[in-house]
Amino acid sequence: MVTATLTEVAKMLRPGVTTLALDQMAEQFIKDHGGVPSFKGYGPSSNPYPYSLCISVNEVVVHGFPGSYEVKEGDIISVDCGFYKDGYHGDHAYTFAIGEVSPELSQLMRVTKESLARAVSAARENNRVGDISFTVEDYTHRQHGYGVVRELVGHGVGKRLHEDPQVPNYGRRGDGKRLKEGMVLAIEPMINLGTHKVHTLDDGWTVVTADGLPSVHYEHTTLVRKGAGENLSQFGPIEEAERQNPNLSKAHL
Ligand code: MF3
Ligand code: CO
Repeated sequence: MVTATLTEVAKMLRPGVTTLALDQMAEQFIKDHGGVPSFKGYGPSSNPYPYSLCISVNEVVVHGFPGSYEVKEGDIISVDCGFYKDGYHGDHAYTFAIGEVSPELSQLMRVTKESLARAVSAARENNRVGDISFTVEDYTHRQHGYGVVRELVGHGVGKRLHEDPQVPNYGRRGDGKRLKEGMVLAIEPMINLGTHKVHTLDDGWTVVTADGLPSVHYEHTTLVRKGAGENLSQFGPIEEAERQNPNLSKAHL
């Protein structure tokens, strides 16, 4: 269901659409399919998350508020969706490029997506959480020099949106909790073109890069299996919608 929702977002993305319009469509789609948006109302009762999607544009890392912002050519737009149905949450994110983007950005997207694929392979029984973390950091930072966000991490997901264990995008092989078949993890690299440093805006949610350079975010809900992790969310239908939408860049696909 999270894949289906993000696929609808992929069809609607084009210059001029507001991020609030995307959020409203997604909220309706979730409700029409018997679900509840996991994110809306989540968090401290003094400042609960107010929307169904997180839409994080360019230098916004995660938890961007949908609003009157109009998507424009050259933007990269990370869309994160939580869908609750029949007692379980799905959590899924994807970064889209609008129109032409620089080779630099296209590579950042490609490398981050690949780091997630490698991390999913590492989510196999008898590996440890640190093997997933190491895989992301090694590929994105050591091999490509990107900044790995440290303040936010992946997580167990299931009856609650955030469950143990935490799944950082940095760490050491062989560290942390041992993985068992049947565990479900949200693995979510948040990778910056420049510094790994981030800060949170006064709204208490929006996380931005400290240097103002762009950041991307991909996330899967992944089942731990014997030989490798298996994704319950899938990029396939989203990428297909992306290929068919002339407003989206295919450079990173
Ligand atoms: N995928 C993000 C996470 O797992 C989205 C959470 S938004 C929130 O943390 F509002 F629900 F916090
Ligand atoms: Co998540």
